[in-house]
Amino acid sequence: MTAGSASEAELPADPAGAKAQVIQAEGVRKRFGDNIVLDGIDLAVDAGETLVVIGPSGSGKSTLLRCINLLEPIDGGRILLEGEEITRKGAKVATIRQRIGIVFQQFNLFPHLKAIDNVTLAARRVRKVSRSEAEARALELLKRVGLEEKAREYPHQLSGGQQQRVAIARALMMEPHVMLFDEVTSALDPELVGEVLVVMRDLAQSGMTMVVVTHEMQFAREVGDRVLFMDEGRIVEQGVPADVLDRPREERTRRFLRRSLQLARSLEELTIDQGGAE
Ligand SMILES: Nc1ncnc2c1ncn2[C@@H]1O[C@H](COP(=O)(O)OP(=O)(O)OP(=O)(O)O)[C@@H](O)[C@H]1O
Ligand SMILES: [Mg+2]
Repeated sequence: MTAGSASEAELPADPAGAKAQVIQAEGVRKRFGDNIVLDGIDLAVDAGETLVVIGPSGSGKSTLLRCINLLEPIDGGRILLEGEEITRKGAKVATIRQRIGIVFQQFNLFPHLKAIDNVTLAARRVRKVSRSEAEARALELLKRVGLEEKAREYPHQLSGGQQQRVAIARALMMEPHVMLFDEVTSALDPELVGEVLVVMRDLAQSGMTMVVVTHEMQFAREVGDRVLFMDEGRIVEQGVPADVLDRPREERTRRFLRRSLQLARSLEELTIDQGGAE
């Protein structure tokens, strides 16, 4: 055996055979004043993967999404989108953001614009897509989120769940390569949560790459390819949902899951009498 073949045998597996990574974070650090909010985050999200991020309030989940979307500058490390370092100096932020859709807890629709105009606005302004082309695509997207017949309604004529679905259609309008969701069902009445989760599930099944911050453990379990638990700006553990949620390795994860379960139970028992309206 020649020295050449021995060293070839030690080469790593063909990287082309591996799944393309849409998002990579390497040693990402972020602080607000003295408060270290992201403390060395290493992360990779594969194409078509749904990564669910859970963790206590203040653990840095929203900040992580905001850093990925370049809404917050980072203080250390780097973030790559489809192999391109987007946190480098001189990166074209506006163009990069078009590839990253983000949906927040608050829908932030323009109240004076009909649903369809909320969806088409950015494409028409930023991408200079014609009105007819933009509207045709917006109608398709509104249909996809189950709101075809609400296209001409204003936000105040829509329920919270419907508004959130418009916000999802709006994000999809820019044809993002990855979608970030930050507790998008947290502000909704419980009976409206399901219709939004179903849209997200279908999107995940269609092959969209997604990072989903949520408290909806059932969604994490059924739709997540991987669950990641964060605490105090660090990734504590991650893995397939059944492992992280049912057999967590770390005590901190166990404590968090126990607390969320207890909270869900006590909230179920808790019924607030709304001042005796009858
Ligand atoms: N713009 C800001 N200025 C100063 N501090 C901030 C800012 N945004 C977030 N923080 C702080 O960063 C920490 C992480 O906040 P972040 O919103 O990322 O947490 P989270 O995990 O999303 O929490 P929650 O579950 O409550 O949404 C918190 O201590 C928060 O107070
Ligand atoms: Mg948050």
